[in-house]
Amino acid sequence: MLNEKNILHKCRLFIIGASGHGKVIEALARESACYSKITILDDNEELKHIGKVPGGKEYALEFRDCADVIVGIGNAAIRKKIIEYYEEKQINVTSLTHPFSWVASDVRIDNGTVIMAGAVVQPGCTLGKGVIVNTSSSIDHDCKIGNYCHISVGSHIAGTVCIGDNTWIGAGATVSNNITICNDVMIGAGAVVVKDIMEPGTYVGVPAKKIG
Ligand SMILES: CC(C)(COP(=O)(O)OP(=O)(O)OC[C@H]1O[C@@H](n2cnc3c(N)ncnc32)[C@H](O)[C@@H]1OP(=O)(O)O)[C@@H](O)C(=O)NCCC(=O)NCCS
Repeated sequence: MLNEKNILHKCRLFIIGASGHGKVIEALARESACYSKITILDDNEELKHIGKVPGGKEYALEFRDCADVIVGIGNAAIRKKIIEYYEEKQINVTSLTHPFSWVASDVRIDNGTVIMAGAVVQPGCTLGKGVIVNTSSSIDHDCKIGNYCHISVGSHIAGTVCIGDNTWIGAGATVSNNITICNDVMIGAGAVVVKDIMEPGTYVGVPAKKIG
């Protein structure tokens, strides 16, 4: 669970998802220099013809004993489904932290979570399974971020915030300190959350208000 796991990887990494998010994870994995071989997989048959993608997610099963996998898909429901697929097949779903991010030593990070370049995660935080802490975002002290959340590029979560599962904080949004946000919430780009959000839905603006 601790981020020191990054130094204990096996030699081979499979990244599931060949689109934009997968590309960023590939760059992260290469920069971290933890793996001797990195392969991108995608269930989209058309991508196999490009040559770079040898197969879909089942391709990694052959390498069960000598490889880690990470899911590079932005959609939370698909990310969850694929992480669960590999857990069931008993392949290690790893977490990755970019060397140019800063994560306090006591932060607890669950499997399948990625922390991108320029991100900061302060002491006392817990990051659930399959979380994306995206480029140049920050999560301040004692926050709890639920499973499959996405803290988008340039967004800022102040101290002691609790965010439920499958919640997406949009690019450049801010969540004020001591706020609770429930499961299945979409916070629009640039929004500022100043009150607890206890009902799933989409919230935008300053201060953030529900639109759907
Ligand atoms: C909030 C969001 C999900 C809404 O998307 P949507 O459901 O397709 O909604 P629409 O684009 O139809 O917009 C609905 C209304 O909300 C407004 N709106 C949408 N996003 C808004 C935002 N971020 N801030 C303020 N208003 C917003 C629109 O202007 C529109 O207003 P109108 O009805 O007066 O014309 C989307 O706009 C958004 O912010 N996505 C975040 C993307 C992001 O951060 N990506 C990061 C990748 S790392």
